[in-house]
Amino acid sequence: MRDSFRTRLGFILAAAGSAVGLGNIWGFPTQVANHGGAAFLVVYLVVVVILAIPALYTELSIGHQAQANPVAALGKLAQRPHRLGAGLGKSVGLLNVGGAILMLSFYHIIAGWMLAHALGSLALAVDWPEAHKALTTSSLWRDLVFVAVFLIGTGTIVVRGVSNGIEVWSRRLMPLLVVLLLVLIGYIAMQPGAGAGFARYLQPSMAGFSDPNLVVAAMGQAFFSLSIGLGGMMIYGSYLNRDANIGQLAISVAALDTLIAFLAGLLIIPALYVAMGQGMQVSENGQLIGEAQLIFNVLPELFQRMGAAGPWLGFFFFLLLSIAALTSTISLAEVPIAYLLESRQHSRRRATTLVIAAIAIFAIALVIWFVPLFAWTVAYVTKFQLPLSGLFYFIVLGWLWSRSNKLKDQAQQHWRFRLLFWHLRLICPLLLLWVFIDVAFAG
Ligand code: PHE
Repeated sequence: MRDSFRTRLGFILAAAGSAVGLGNIWGFPTQVANHGGAAFLVVYLVVVVILAIPALYTELSIGHQAQANPVAALGKLAQRPHRLGAGLGKSVGLLNVGGAILMLSFYHIIAGWMLAHALGSLALAVDWPEAHKALTTSSLWRDLVFVAVFLIGTGTIVVRGVSNGIEVWSRRLMPLLVVLLLVLIGYIAMQPGAGAGFARYLQPSMAGFSDPNLVVAAMGQAFFSLSIGLGGMMIYGSYLNRDANIGQLAISVAALDTLIAFLAGLLIIPALYVAMGQGMQVSENGQLIGEAQLIFNVLPELFQRMGAAGPWLGFFFFLLLSIAALTSTISLAEVPIAYLLESRQHSRRRATTLVIAAIAIFAIALVIWFVPLFAWTVAYVTKFQLPLSGLFYFIVLGWLWSRSNKLKDQAQQHWRFRLLFWHLRLICPLLLLWVFIDVAFAG
């Protein structure tokens, strides 16, 4: 029998775990800081409602209806125009499987950095400066070792399956993540200078809205943050009971994801102002200095200036990022694993081993040839693969999926569903096309 989530809450925590990742804690606050503070927050909220929740609903629905991995699911539901649709569906499914592996390879590298910095802060706390230096200084061996450690973490969870691995661990890690985040927010809020950061984040100024890239940046961020476009949500949707209410679940997951991004802003933006107040340089020409520098230099230095509590703050902060990353990697790893399991008849153990090995090979290549490959891979996955697959999901739900398409049936009965159906089949694809063209060709 196919594995599945045991409880509704288990699903919500796992799907929110997939959504809440580096994109929330690191990506969202940096976007806020670079795109006019509160203006970005306002536009982001609008985008989540009109585009990202519909996309999440669509991806979850496809998996839920097909009860299968993305390759089989898209092949099954993209029925029109007959064979062509099925072939196209399978191809996009395979693209998702490949995209998930590529994304996992760079995501594990970044996650490894977070873990190394967490342990590095711990080394400082126990007064072991040599270890601190080795762990927080970038080097080939460090990156390779920590990719391996993080991969073992991902593998150990997913090999146990959906209800015993993914669900159990999401239930443990997500509450811990929220507690860590709240403790850090509380601590930073008490530092001198934090108030100005809160104001910048929470009071929209008209000037902020004039940024021409605001809307496209918000759409890209919302898509990435809700894990749309690589099949991660589709596979989770496929593990839901037949009677699950996908609309409600999509809204709950999106609300949790957005709440945590918002909270991360309450941590990082005030922290930047505290750092500025201490004379540290955080921006240049109105843009934050490199995003990596912010996380790996500015904030650790700020923590170090906070006396005995500093190393522990650093530890909690990087632990928070590591946990956020782990609950995302397990959802993405499940995409190729489920494909090997269902469509290629491998055992879960074997499928996990193969997938972890494949990610390891790509990740090693990325670490060794970092300069030419890393940025390219990130750009390919986030700017090309995510919006394009998202677009295809909308087309499947709106145009190609004919039999047992619940939304289509409901649209015939009530004008409200008709409106929603047309929103999904027309407005959302057009919005996405806009993002795609703008980001892929202009940026
Ligand atoms: N949503 C994750 C984040 O915010 C990234 C992700 C994208 C995870 C796609 C799975 C699939 O970091």
